[in-house]
Amino acid sequence: MYLNVLLVTLSAYLTNMATEPDTWDGKAYLATPGAIATGEANARALLNCLEAAGYSASELKTLDVIEVGAGVGTVTPTLAAAFRSVHAIEPSESQGRVLARQVLHFPNVTFSVAALSASSGDEYATGTPQPSPTPENPTRVHAPPRARFDVAVCTIVAHHVSDLPEFFAGVRSILRPSGLFIVLEFALRDGEDVSVEYHVAQDPSWLVVEDDNAPLPGHAMRVSWSTEGLVSLFERNGFKDVRAFEGGLVPAFVDYCDGMPIVLVYGCT
Ligand SMILES: C[S@@+](CC[C@H](N)C(=O)[O-])C[C@H]1O[C@@H](n2cnc3c(N)ncnc32)[C@H](O)[C@@H]1O
Repeated sequence: MYLNVLLVTLSAYLTNMATEPDTWDGKAYLATPGAIATGEANARALLNCLEAAGYSASELKTLDVIEVGAGVGTVTPTLAAAFRSVHAIEPSESQGRVLARQVLHFPNVTFSVAALSASSGDEYATGTPQPSPTPENPTRVHAPPRARFDVAVCTIVAHHVSDLPEFFAGVRSILRPSGLFIVLEFALRDGEDVSVEYHVAQDPSWLVVEDDNAPLPGHAMRVSWSTEGLVSLFERNGFKDVRAFEGGLVPAFVDYCDGMPIVLVYGCT
């Protein structure tokens, strides 16, 4: 059993290293002006969206959520207070190191340095161990806390996802029947893609990709979706009863603009 766990962990780390270099810096991300306040505002917008979708606060306390692309954990504490449990997954090892420190003390939060793929459903169903490193135990692993989740959320992640069809297939595979997926993204402002403008102004080496079907090559991001574009992305990737919710302004990119509009789109399996 021990050898099995060791081999799975080693293989997960090697797969990560072999496929993509880690382009994220968790410490720098956490120190970005407005990052924590934006995470908190995004988390409140998620809860407002759930309320608008008909979920009461007491119902949320009976539900298990998976947070996909949890980053350094700026949203996770609010989810932990609202839901019965949170499984926070994050593919970047650097982001994951900070995430571990942020969420280790929450009794209803588990976390993994992992992404989702079309095989995730089987891996979660069979309890395949996932890397869950802590500062004290960098080779720690644990089995996913459950096979299926009631709700999946991801905040300002989708425009960084390399393979969108695989990502959506992975989310569908770990949601229960009629499970809910909510994606929060920056919205266009008066038709302007301020998110792309900001990223490229900060770092001109960002490649910007328009085609949802094209994988992201390395240090790349996607153009921001219109609300209709995001709804269509959900529908093309197998989600039903898709709806949008305007989330207002959040204090992202405060060194560049006076707040970013967000949109939340949700649909069911
Ligand atoms: C802008 S950060 C947002 C982090 C966090 N959700 C937040 O709101 O603070 C984008 C995150 O998406 C993650 N990411 C990129 N591709 C991903 C994928 N395929 N699956 C899950 N997360 C991904 C990155 O590693 C990064 O941590």
